Amino acid sequence: MTHTRVLIIEDEQLIRWSLKQRFTAEGYSCDDAAGGGDGLQLFTQRTYDLVMLDFKLPDMTGIDVLREIRRLDDDVVVILMTAYGKVETAVEAIKLGAFDFVSKPFQIDQLMAQVERGLETTRLKRQVRDYREKMKDQFGLQKLVGDSPPMRELYELVKSIADSGAATVFLLGETGTGKDLLAKTIHYNSDRADRPFVNITCTALSETLLESELFGHEKGAFTDAKSQKPGLFELAHGGTVFLDEVGDMPPALQAKLLRFLEEKAFRRIGGVRDIQVDVRILAATNRDIQKAVAENKFREDLYHRLNVITITIPPLRDRDGDIELLARFFVSEYNREYRRNITGIAQEALERLHSYSWPGNVRELRNTIERAVILSKNNVLTAKDFVLGRPEETATLGLRGLQLPPDGVDLQEVEAELVRQALDRTQRNQTKAAKLLHLSRDQLRYRMEKLGLL
Ligand SMILES: Nc1ncnc2c1ncn2[C@@H]1O[C@H](COP(=O)(O)OP(=O)(O)OP(=O)(O)O)[C@@H](O)[C@H]1O
Ligand SMILES: [Mg+2]
Repeated sequence: MTHTRVLIIEDEQLIRWSLKQRFTAEGYSCDDAAGGGDGLQLFTQRTYDLVMLDFKLPDMTGIDVLREIRRLDDDVVVILMTAYGKVETAVEAIKLGAFDFVSKPFQIDQLMAQVERGLETTRLKRQVRDYREKMKDQFGLQKLVGDSPPMRELYELVKSIADSGAATVFLLGETGTGKDLLAKTIHYNSDRADRPFVNITCTALSETLLESELFGHEKGAFTDAKSQKPGLFELAHGGTVFLDEVGDMPPALQAKLLRFLEEKAFRRIGGVRDIQVDVRILAATNRDIQKAVAENKFREDLYHRLNVITITIPPLRDRDGDIELLARFFVSEYNREYRRNITGIAQEALERLHSYSWPGNVRELRNTIERAVILSKNNVLTAKDFVLGRPEETATLGLRGLQLPPDGVDLQEVEAELVRQALDRTQRNQTKAAKLLHLSRDQLRYRMEKLGLL
């Protein structure tokens, strides 16, 4: 640690002096005070890595000083110095968050080992704190870009659920719409932000491994279980578990997850006792989950249990205003990353971005912009800087012959007519009709409901 700073609060001058000698010899900078009041005065003026605190001070007790230090700084390590045999004091001090205590008289060499451990602890605590602060900053609400009505609704929702206990949230949306990002945003903007965020992709592991990852196992529970291992639900206690691609979870595990959601308790594999934890579950899928339920691939009871608070992120093509905003956001991000100085996006290029259907949603837009920022020869991005996946995907080709009638047209009627035609042509097969209209089945059903066609 560069510039380790230690504070000694001790009324006996000889002890103060010898500690200071030793700490200075170790290369620490060192301040000292003969009373609690003076010590706290110093403490408010500087950041210390360690405090050596005498229990019996002329003006106040060490416990009171400790209490005040804790109020000011959660991380700093405090070593309390007590007269021999004062066990109750020591216990009380540890409860109040003292790191350790030493009985006087002490051997300074032995003390130094405790000091080293204490300093290491402070360092780790501060690292964790810095990391969390960085995460909070990285996943602040402002990093979720968007100004379309659905995105604004989403911001309100995130704010209202952030601190609402441990309610389960179900995140739906096509691939690349931002479910991962949203999950982290919810966590880092909630009162759980200082606790773990644990992310597990339900498709990445075999059924047995996934179960043991989630619930942990006892020693000998299965052949490879050489030692006991806590599961992610335990490790995330107080925090958030993000179950990504929950739609692909094997049926046997779905039943166990359901039990966990209902009872907030589970057993390790091979375990006999229930373990109780407090975690918020965020579950996400890009599957058509209602279809999976209809096809008996996803348990209906689990679906209802997850479906308490559901956030559906609309596909990018339905959030017109966001395309430009996101594009500019990514340009500035990649300018920084690749040390480029792209100043803008040409009008025709923006139109190109708007007319494309973005099957890969924000992820695809992000990749498109990244490539353009790297390869563009100019400071303003033009249409030819964008290589778009399947341009034919957009309806523009089929619509080329379509002309707006001189008197205009009722767009909702056009929509209703096209939905009707698609349903007729497919003998009311909703999946096929949705495909014809470049919609997900949910989106089609939404429109059918709106149009009274269900
Ligand atoms: N509103 C947004 N603002 C800024 N970046 C976004 C936004 N939405 C998505 N992104 C970015 O787009 C990329 C894809 O998002 P993300 O990984 O969260 O999608 P996803 O919904 O989890 O997709 P999948 O279903 O494939 O897992 C990420 O790089 C993410 O940071
Ligand atoms: Mg994802």
